[in-house]
Amino acid sequence: MKRTLIIKTPTLVGQEVKLQGWVVTKRDHGKLTFIDLRDKSGLVQCVGFGQLGDVTPETVVAIEGLVKNRPAKLVNKDLVTGSIEIEVKKYQILNLSKELPIPIDADGYDINEESRLKYRYLDLRRARMQKNIRLRSSLTREICGSLDKREFVNIETPMLTKSTKEGARDFVVPSRFQPGKFYALPQSPQQYKQLLMTAGFERYYQIARCIRDEDLRADRGFEFTQVDLEMSFVDRADVMQLVESVVKEAVVAVGGKLKEKNFPVLTYGEAMSKYGSDKFDLRSEADKKAGKLAFAWVIDFPFFKKVDTKDVAEVRDGKSGWTFTHNPFSQPQDKYLEQHLAGKKIDQILTTQYDLVCNGYEVGGGSIRAHHPEVLMATFKTMGYTDQQIQDGVGHMLVAFGVGTPPHGGIALGLDRLVMLLAGETSLKEITPFPMSSSGRTAIMDAPAPITAEQAKELGLKINS
Ligand code: AMO
Repeated sequence: MKRTLIIKTPTLVGQEVKLQGWVVTKRDHGKLTFIDLRDKSGLVQCVGFGQLGDVTPETVVAIEGLVKNRPAKLVNKDLVTGSIEIEVKKYQILNLSKELPIPIDADGYDINEESRLKYRYLDLRRARMQKNIRLRSSLTREICGSLDKREFVNIETPMLTKSTKEGARDFVVPSRFQPGKFYALPQSPQQYKQLLMTAGFERYYQIARCIRDEDLRADRGFEFTQVDLEMSFVDRADVMQLVESVVKEAVVAVGGKLKEKNFPVLTYGEAMSKYGSDKFDLRSEADKKAGKLAFAWVIDFPFFKKVDTKDVAEVRDGKSGWTFTHNPFSQPQDKYLEQHLAGKKIDQILTTQYDLVCNGYEVGGGSIRAHHPEVLMATFKTMGYTDQQIQDGVGHMLVAFGVGTPPHGGIALGLDRLVMLLAGETSLKEITPFPMSSSGRTAIMDAPAPITAEQAKELGLKINS
């Protein structure tokens, strides 16, 4: 017999069905055993007469039985399948479950992180996590659909690469073929996506995994996912408009509620003077209760800032004491171009950067890019790089900018943060299938872990610890 999904059972009264799923609860009444059975589609009550006595909660079973209407007074209005039950004819245990190390019948917020992550595959069975991970999948699908429809080309870029300056430390990977040399995992596909514009794709996107060694917070992970896109022959307004349409379409398609039909646009100066922050929350208490999303754009950021001497990445990037506020590959606004090229009045230069904020979080950022070598060189000169250091770092970009690179710009949306806000959660861990612990240990498999002496030797590494 072919499997029927639980959600379909109310339409099959009087028929025999085969169900497969997990036992949620079991109640024994003498020879009668009641279980609730769960699959990906829903929950249904099954009644075994002299059967099911040996199943335990979370055991995986196959059940063949008759779909019967319940007597009127036993109808459960809270359950989609509450008008019927399954009279079990035969059943088979497919995998007997031992007692679970963590409960999975509640929202799980009160269980300690270590246990939840150690048994993440069980933690993910709880209804809240199922909903969140499925929401993540739906949002990703809608965003991709929306970009596909607009003729964006979905292109993968390398994971083993060279350092891309995104303002964090790199995770590095030793090379076996060239002992003593290292790849860096990408902090973002920034340079590759710009080179795809040089390559003539005109519209690129990628659901891109990014890896940054930075301090972990509820809204910041070592690994995260961007909706990364880039477009040729566009100005700032073109990119903002397109991104706003895509975000609105996708968010509404998965049931999100927007506070504003059109996203307000604030300058950095306005945001700072009104809210004291460029990641502000425009929701009223009523909006918060209604689960609304309050998106807004922030523009007109300063291009450079003074290096924070406590920030290792900033000290490394900003050799002159100045570093970029967002992205070294950005184009300054037109009226500051001359100043930028001359390296004068650095503090006054505004960039073409735009950030998307939502409910107090930065959920995206992008800019129009420099596409002439002298503009990119001026940026690095302002940060105190010598010509040789510029060649070593971004020489490949300067070459590309001399062989027909169109004007271009783009953005990266923080997919994890968007899902977190849509799901009404306050930590990325609640919407990430296998997140790391607060101290940076991986779920279930407990990395980082030592490597063998043999591996270290092969990689030309000496470990001092
Ligand atoms: P940026 O560094 O601003 O821009 O990143 C874009 C968006 O990604 C999200 N984000 C993160 N989410 C979770 N954990 C992290 N550690 C993390 N870091 C960033 C944020 C952020 O707005 N290459 C540029 C984009 C561009 O200019 O096109 C970039 O990576 O929501």
